[in-house]
Amino acid sequence: MVNSLESLQECIQQELLRHIKLESVEPYNPVITHQVPYPWQCLGAGNYAAVLAHPDYPEQVVKVYAPGRPGIGEEVEVYRRLGEHPAFSQLYASGENFLVLKRLRGVTLYDCLHRGIPIPPQVIWDIDGALDFARSRGLHPHDVHGRNVMMSEGRGLVVDISDFLNAEPCRAWEDVKRAYWWIYRPIVRSLRLRMPYFLLDGVRTGYRLYRHAFRIFRRH
Ligand SMILES: Nc1ncnc2c1ncn2[C@@H]1O[C@H](COP(=O)(O)OP(=O)(O)OP(=O)(O)O)[C@@H](O)[C@H]1O
Ligand SMILES: [Mg+2]
Repeated sequence: MVNSLESLQECIQQELLRHIKLESVEPYNPVITHQVPYPWQCLGAGNYAAVLAHPDYPEQVVKVYAPGRPGIGEEVEVYRRLGEHPAFSQLYASGENFLVLKRLRGVTLYDCLHRGIPIPPQVIWDIDGALDFARSRGLHPHDVHGRNVMMSEGRGLVVDISDFLNAEPCRAWEDVKRAYWWIYRPIVRSLRLRMPYFLLDGVRTGYRLYRHAFRIFRRH
């Protein structure tokens, strides 16, 4: 570790949290990052939080929950139960609205599609193995979609496990895999297509509405 965890936490409290401006506009869309203090860099955002890195701390990232977004306690508990595994991050420290996590060096599958980076089947198999490991620790893989999994040097990683206490069935990863084998391999990959963000986000919204309609249909 280049600098200590204590000095990182100091830096989070004194610089990052004082100046960062995050907003969750709709709970089903990523948090908007209005302001990030120099030299912090935003690596990504999900529907709950933004994830940032500081150049002096290359091994860690800080996940800051947007005001009003729940779930940080559950995410701490998931990391506690999970222990160490090469396909997952690790929790180093936590505060009221932030987590310090091990930095995973990879590209999300969502960004791979955007950038036209080929995704080999090994990535899918690694993620399957990682999810089995999580199940063996009493967790329930949930919400495993293209922004929550990464590829790093041809191997698969799971970057977001925040919802793994949720025991409700979740088809997201099964649907990603189906799309991988039926759409990605024969069409997107073969034609070396790059997917613009509006199309990826359109698929995401379409999928959310489809799952919602399906749940209502099943209730009746
Ligand atoms: N440990 C990490 N190392 C590097 N980048 C990360 C790490 N954790 C998260 N990221 C990046 O930040 C993005 C948002 O993080 P994360 O998915 O944990 O947020 P979230 O709000 O919980 O997401 P969701 O909407 O899926 O619940 C990820 O898609 C990824 O690009
Ligand atoms: Mg996420």
